[in-house]
Amino acid sequence: MPLIEVRGLTKLYRMGNSVVHALDGVDLTIERGEFVAITGPSGSGKSTMMHLLGCLDRPTAGTYILNGRNVSDLSDRELAAIRNRQIGFVFQTFNLIDRTTALENVAVPLFYARQSNTRQAALRALERVGLASRAHHRPSELSGGERQRVTIARAIVNQPALLLADEPTGNLDSRSGEQIMETFRRLNQQGVTIVMVTHEPDIARHAQRIVQMRDGRIVSDRFTAEILAEEHDRPRKWTGYSTSPSEAVSAGVIQQSASEAGLSPDATEVASAPARAVTTPTARPMPGTTAGLVCGLVAVGLWIGATAGQILLARSHNPATFDPLKQPPPLPLVIGGLTVCLATAAALVLAILAIVLSTKARRRLRTEPGLWLGRRRAVAGLALGWAAIAIPAAQIAITVLKALTRSSQG
Ligand SMILES: Nc1ncnc2c1ncn2[C@@H]1O[C@H](COP(=O)(O)OP(=O)(O)O)[C@@H](O)[C@H]1O
Ligand SMILES: [Mg+2]
Repeated sequence: MPLIEVRGLTKLYRMGNSVVHALDGVDLTIERGEFVAITGPSGSGKSTMMHLLGCLDRPTAGTYILNGRNVSDLSDRELAAIRNRQIGFVFQTFNLIDRTTALENVAVPLFYARQSNTRQAALRALERVGLASRAHHRPSELSGGERQRVTIARAIVNQPALLLADEPTGNLDSRSGEQIMETFRRLNQQGVTIVMVTHEPDIARHAQRIVQMRDGRIVSDRFTAEILAEEHDRPRKWTGYSTSPSEAVSAGVIQQSASEAGLSPDATEVASAPARAVTTPTARPMPGTTAGLVCGLVAVGLWIGATAGQILLARSHNPATFDPLKQPPPLPLVIGGLTVCLATAAALVLAILAIVLSTKARRRLRTEPGLWLGRRRAVAGLALGWAAIAIPAAQIAITVLKALTRSSQG
């Protein structure tokens, strides 16, 4: 049984004497677990479609079966109940209450649903969007992307069967938009069915399936992987969601090729095609993890070299045979001493760099959603950085202690 089954869905708006066909007999089937983007030019009926799918409005004609129940002509009360229990909404504007924290904002739907233990559930929802660390911040203390992730947490806190998003990245810069898509993809992998309206091709391609509308009708309904494969003229292989220029170029032509493709014969047939096999997301290396590790390694290496140099110098210029107060130090000793000093200083700087880079990367790994690589590299970089600081510090401390005990004895 599909989650959404829409047949002949029609919505008319009467404007004086004229009638606007906002939706003109739409057929659409969406299976559980799908991630579908609805695109199309302004005025093509996308928002009207979302309103009907979200039970915010009733169709003029046609049927809408949601989760096995015909919701086409329920009363307002019944529609409200369906909305509360089964549907989560994310809009372009965040609609958060600024007087309270992210956590309390997320808990609002639970309050309406008269549930207990709202704190735990709200915190879990924030964790699912990677924002647990911001639970006690107010919306005004968060970035645009983080605010939108709070609204996503609020939308999923009741564990709805369906998540509807109307232009969720419309108010965001492209980097935050990508993060929202990462969040959606992760939720989708956890089983949340997502239907998202967007007019941006490179946002639409994050979905598995792209439905194109024009003049209140569906003019194309295809899998993103299919469209991309066609554009690249190569076998069906989803190369992930990276934002490299070549991908962006291909994203730019999605709309064109999708509209050329025409109306798909049967939405159910499309929905049963092997989509999941080609939608494995690509893990990306977290920036800074490799640099942190390299800095840590070089710092430790320099420190070992400096220590070895010190030992060699002490051996070749035995203080018993050489008195620096009576004769100038030999050139090899001067050069050797300077090199050891420089290496030690460089090791210290690199160690600090390793700690800073690795700590930043680890924080981003915790707070930013997405499939990131480099967790172990960040831990190793941090450990090496601290080692390159702690071991020389211990050495110095021991030398100072020895000197103090010697002078107190003497
Ligand atoms: N409440 C309304 N009253 C009258 N016309 C409307 C109303 N809502 C939408 N329309 C019309 O229906 C058509 C589809 O609108 P909409 O669904 O908002 O499109 P989109 O979201 O794709 O831009 C447009 O021509 C719009 O003017
Ligand atoms: Mg709209």
